[in-house]
Amino acid sequence: MIVNTLDQLNQISHKIIEKISEQDCILLFGEIGVGKTTLARAIINNLQIQNKENETEVLSPTFNLVYDYEIKNLKIMHYDLYRLKTDKEVQQLGIFEQDVNSIKIIEWAEIIKNRQKERLEIYLTYKNDGNLRNIQFKGFGKWINFNAS
Ligand SMILES: Nc1ncnc2c1ncn2[C@@H]1O[C@H](COP(=O)(O)OP(=O)(O)OP(=O)(O)O)[C@@H](O)[C@H]1O
Ligand SMILES: [Mg+2]
Repeated sequence: MIVNTLDQLNQISHKIIEKISEQDCILLFGEIGVGKTTLARAIINNLQIQNKENETEVLSPTFNLVYDYEIKNLKIMHYDLYRLKTDKEVQQLGIFEQDVNSIKIIEWAEIIKNRQKERLEIYLTYKNDGNLRNIQFKGFGKWINFNAS
């Protein structure tokens, strides 16, 4: 599916939110600057709005590896694995052992070998120049038939 505008990306985040619940895992794939953080930010901010909380700043966790957000009873862990090099480093981070109930949104997820059975993989790619992006979904478990259109 083609994403023409940031507004359209925002609409996609709403479709994801409709289905999201604790323990969910959203994996984001795609090159630098393609829009992974932008989509993660839309998901987090729209969850805050939906829960009548103030929107917070959602920064890229490139240097900190993870930022977490508490939204009502939900905890969101937003990871960026860009700086990690080995599967061992991924395992040391304990993404799936700590805060098991949290929702995980993970940028640069290519490096994760053992993926949760239930997850939504999102692939973003550049399309021509400018603001056009292609977005593809690959759902597993409850996400199997996910369709954002
Ligand atoms: N259709 C679009 N979808 C997503 N982002 C877009 C789109 N059009 C323009 N942009 C812009 O592209 C940039 C995407 O940056 P973003 O930080 O989200 O990328 P990223 O994939 O997280 O990069 P990194 O690999 O460095 O983490 C933002 O400035 C955003 O406004
Ligand atoms: Mg990013």
